[in-house]
Amino acid sequence: MPGITLGDTVPNLEVETTHKNFKLHDYFADSWTVLFSHPASPIYLLSLLTNGLKGDFTPVCTTELGAMGKYAHEFEQRGVKLLGLSCDDIQSHKDWIPDIEAFTPGSKVTYPIIADPNKEIIPQLNMIDPIENGPSRALHIVGPDCKIKLSFLYPSTTGRNMDEVLRALDSLLMAAKHKNKIATPVNWKPDEPVVISPAVSDEEAKKLFPQGFKTAELPSKKGYLRVADVS
Ligand code: BEZ
Repeated sequence: MPGITLGDTVPNLEVETTHKNFKLHDYFADSWTVLFSHPASPIYLLSLLTNGLKGDFTPVCTTELGAMGKYAHEFEQRGVKLLGLSCDDIQSHKDWIPDIEAFTPGSKVTYPIIADPNKEIIPQLNMIDPIENGPSRALHIVGPDCKIKLSFLYPSTTGRNMDEVLRALDSLLMAAKHKNKIATPVNWKPDEPVVISPAVSDEEAKKLFPQGFKTAELPSKKGYLRVADVS
């Protein structure tokens, strides 16, 4: 994925959205944001156009945007904003929303969707699918400092898993809360133990985790896998 990546500041672009126009940094300020884009490959777009439809009305994206709407309260509870992006104009986005909400009962598209009809924004946000050379199924989790903390890039044929988006977000929030002195292990879920970063000495770990921690006994006897309960 050439272009902006983990640790980079998202460019402060002025964007037109289904809510209002704003500068990205104003939207990101003081909270975490899940910014997600949707593919409409040139070949697919062409076939849609010949049927008189626009690029927004793609089937997998319809399910994803609906799921985001259904999970919106989960993001709100965590103080996290959502921001969609699709390569079509505002009117098309607005026309698409009733389909999205109808397909996923209980979903309300309360989050803004950026319009990018000329595909000028997606390259600047590194949301390009290099195989299809067009808009991708990408997702950046952006921190309150406007920097990218995590990125997913899925091919157009694979819809994303919203439980995994939430799980990864919870991991980022947990690591940030502990100033990255912890990390979360495989398949971690909130309330499960975390691992102590290898950058933390045992002495520091004793101070950081007064409740104690466990060191896994492994054949190497190197004592590097330490687990603490922080819930
Ligand atoms: C979709 O969202 O359904 C989709 C978009 C582009 C290519 C294939 C599927």
